Amino acid sequence: MSPDVVFGYAPGKVILFGEHAVVYGQPAIAATIDRGIRVAVSQGAHDDGPIMRSNGAGLPMRAKPDPHGDGPQALREALATVVQLQGVRAKRLSFTVDAEIPAGAGLGSSAALAIALLRGTAQYFGEPALDFDTLVKRAFVIERVFHGNPSGVDHATIAHGGCVVYQRDVGADTFAVSALVLKRRLRLAVGIAGPHAGTKSAVAALRDRATRHPAHYQRIYDSIGDIARAARGHLADGALGAVGELMDLNHGLLNALGVSTPAIEALVSIARDRGALGAKLSGAGGGGAVIALVDDDPAPVVSAFEAAGFAAFATQIDQPASQETA
Ligand code: PMV
Repeated sequence: MSPDVVFGYAPGKVILFGEHAVVYGQPAIAATIDRGIRVAVSQGAHDDGPIMRSNGAGLPMRAKPDPHGDGPQALREALATVVQLQGVRAKRLSFTVDAEIPAGAGLGSSAALAIALLRGTAQYFGEPALDFDTLVKRAFVIERVFHGNPSGVDHATIAHGGCVVYQRDVGADTFAVSALVLKRRLRLAVGIAGPHAGTKSAVAALRDRATRHPAHYQRIYDSIGDIARAARGHLADGALGAVGELMDLNHGLLNALGVSTPAIEALVSIARDRGALGAKLSGAGGGGAVIALVDDDPAPVVSAFEAAGFAAFATQIDQPASQETA
């Protein structure tokens, strides 16, 4: 007999280094954060498609494409994909989503939702926990509904957990992900520069700009890759001052790529004024999250973000207790 309700959880993520360049085969460094998305899975009232409610909007949404539906089409398609992946019995499920991260802010909300849905559904049906490869493969199918052809960094990071180095082999359409063991805990202030216009359109617009000056853009992608490789060593050594400097450099290159905005620049300069070790946009840009690395308490930077009218929170990136040294 199925349980009354089970919960699937997945954390959000930040990209510390390498967004956009990762699409073209450069390494990225990303990490899960201590807030995410929880999905309660229970038996629905009918079996013509799963229902999804959010703790905020509370609107039911059928997975069946419905011209009079009350939710975004992509979410309905994502639910239909969950049914394809997890079997028709998923049609009779009801999902209630509890999100601690905003959507469309570069914090991995769609990948976290996909993974929380997959974990929760498997658990509801009493299946063994999905292994990493299966989770990544299935989450990618759902991510493609939201993002077209993403690099895969979001859902691979979220499925893996912790801080990782992610790199795709563009030609072979494969990827490698490995844990990056941090010598010191990372303390971050996160400010939200408003919703972004979507990862898909940010990546497409950049691709379009790059076709007019391909050699120049390629050099920027290569430089971002070099910065990510250098940052990997500094993160492993706990040299957070150098990590912050490289975040600033990475941000300057993202600005050169045209994915920053005045609101993002305002957040970055507030963070630097308040003594952050470094700050950069995180994710697709055009809005979304700015991350600021601090060496102590993120609260003053968070308060400064809020005083300027931005939503903000503190988060930290930890190692499992066995690996922790700071
Ligand atoms: O979806 P976001 O905002 O976390 O951006 C993902 C990172 C990009 O490099 C911009 C896109 C991708 O597919 O890797």
